Amino acid sequence: MERKIVIMDHPLIQHKLSVLRDEETGTYKFRALVNEIATLMTYEATRYLPLEDIEVKTPCGIAKCKKISGKTLAFVPILRAGTGMLDGVLQLIPTAKVGHIGLYRDETTLNPVEYYCKLPADIESRDVFVLDPMLATGGSAVNAISQIKLRHPKSIKFLCIIAAPEGLEVLKNAHPDVDIFCAHVDDHLNEKGYIVPGLGDAGDRIFGTK
Ligand code: PRP
Ligand code: URA
Repeated sequence: MERKIVIMDHPLIQHKLSVLRDEETGTYKFRALVNEIATLMTYEATRYLPLEDIEVKTPCGIAKCKKISGKTLAFVPILRAGTGMLDGVLQLIPTAKVGHIGLYRDETTLNPVEYYCKLPADIESRDVFVLDPMLATGGSAVNAISQIKLRHPKSIKFLCIIAAPEGLEVLKNAHPDVDIFCAHVDDHLNEKGYIVPGLGDAGDRIFGTK
């Protein structure tokens, strides 16, 4: 099957993204919006999950129904900012398992530095959604996905809110089998590796650390 790159231009997502970007939006509202956007993105990104036929006994007869095939999903947020999306995705799929990958960007080299990785034990039987609001140089996403691939999940999808064209290209080339879902592709990266116009530092805005 051909790999998907989906830009989610649903009006609700685009509207919430505009408020999210605003430098006047404070921590409480920012955190709520990241979760709301993540919920809406999950709704769209799970549109492609395979279904299987089942029969359900209702009080009045047998209904021919569908259910999602397989052992279903695992969500893996990239620490820290990816955890801001977690409650939002779990709103729709509360039974999913959750892994965590800890990475931060070295401020001078912009290379990702690994500090944590804990994934569900049965990840090889799950479809994995990696969560991170920002795809900038692409280093963090590529590294996180490489770590997850070592554990052979059924499939991997990457969900981000804003992507830079540079990061999108890097991720597309490094992991040609990974579907990518994002709410908007912005203009470029600045000299410090920040997405322009972007929204600033997602982790700091979610957690109020600056
Ligand atoms: C941010 C963001 C991504 C990464 C993207 O995290 O949440 O993980 O930068 O940049 P890249 O595409 O150039 O790798 P950061 O490193 O600031 O860590 P934090 O979430 O702990 O603040
Ligand atoms: N990480 C962020 O949080 N924001 C950017 O613009 C780039 C990387």
